[in-house]
Amino acid sequence: MQITIDSGQLYGELDKLASFTDAPPPAVTRVVFSTVDLAARAYIRELCRAANLIVRVDAVGNLFARWVGSEPGLAAIGTGSHTDAIPFAGAYDGTVGVLGGLEAIRALQRAGFQPRRSIELLMFTSEEPTRFGIGCLGSRLLSGGLQAGRAKTLTDKEGQSLDQVRTAAGFSGTLDDVVLPKGYYEAFLELHVEQGPVLEARNIPVGVVTAIAAPASLRIWLDGEGGHAGTVLMPQRHDAFLAASEISLAVESAVKSTGAIDTVGTVGVCDIFPGAVNSIPSRVKIEIDVRDIDGTRRDAVLRAIDEACGRVTERRGVKLKKEVLNADPPAQSGRRALNALNQSCERCGISPFPLPSRAYHDSLFMSRITEVGMLFVRCRQGVSHRPDEYASADDIATGTRVLADALAQLSLES
Ligand code: HGY
Ligand code: MN
Ligand code: MN
Repeated sequence: MQITIDSGQLYGELDKLASFTDAPPPAVTRVVFSTVDLAARAYIRELCRAANLIVRVDAVGNLFARWVGSEPGLAAIGTGSHTDAIPFAGAYDGTVGVLGGLEAIRALQRAGFQPRRSIELLMFTSEEPTRFGIGCLGSRLLSGGLQAGRAKTLTDKEGQSLDQVRTAAGFSGTLDDVVLPKGYYEAFLELHVEQGPVLEARNIPVGVVTAIAAPASLRIWLDGEGGHAGTVLMPQRHDAFLAASEISLAVESAVKSTGAIDTVGTVGVCDIFPGAVNSIPSRVKIEIDVRDIDGTRRDAVLRAIDEACGRVTERRGVKLKKEVLNADPPAQSGRRALNALNQSCERCGISPFPLPSRAYHDSLFMSRITEVGMLFVRCRQGVSHRPDEYASADDIATGTRVLADALAQLSLES
């Protein structure tokens, strides 16, 4: 079967999708359920309908676009990713998996392929944690990794609940119905930019993901004592920001103390109240992201952070409240999915290159309900979550071709 990817159309669609942004180009900001996110969803929905796929959307906005196979009763083969983007991100994180997945289906249609198992494109809601603090919201719910009751407690920075926001965005129905029945998919493949430097360093266009790192994120509030920056002398102070600063440095040293290059930690959010130059910070909120491909090592870092919090707050006379937003186990790629991707690389003239994913993806949660496999596309200098994120049309087309071939193979397998 000759699979031909229409690279021009695919790249043009990626460009069009990037135009739905709340930041000046080339930056892309597309926060879940924002106006630009809804416009992007409508665009994807239209493209799926134009490809004669059967489209449905669930109560949290996950989109499913199905190419019905000759044996529609069999568990389907899924592929897809996300289109939401953190503030001032780039054009390729997630979108390559949604539009690449769609083009893979169209290329198989053009090649006259007839799927036995249906092939279904997914666009997951809110893979990024930006609005509700927890990543992979849509795939957590559909895989049963997040209970509807807990999801209902999630609020955004304005205090709006997930139910309020999704209903206003036009997504009705109960979150309890989002979870998919067991055996809904036979396998799931996700095409995604690597977001790291490995493939470029080895001059390889695509790589086959072996495992996905274990992510955890925490919110910590520190309550000290505010006051006048000129009249409160240092011995009397309980400065919430300095306590937050010590804890942030403790995150770094706990991460570095594992001695493993795979352990990473970041304090990406820091809100200071009242936030005036001549007022001692009375309340600070920080958000911490800790990951490792080894879940046990990641948990040891979380414990070390807890101990540091106890020491710092004791010494500085500051109160602390902690919320664990998520602490997920890592995921291994499935044997059949790996075989399909490796064999498809070979058929496409590429020797398969295995690598771990240090970023998390919706596949992390899809792995709880089916076999998953991920295919990475080389990105320039490994840059991601930045406006200068870039993947070439050729590399994206190569990844899409391998994906199409693997979807076809899995669709025909019993
Ligand atoms: O943070 C991540 O790993 C993903 O890009 N949301
Ligand atoms: Mn991302
Ligand atoms: Mn992503």
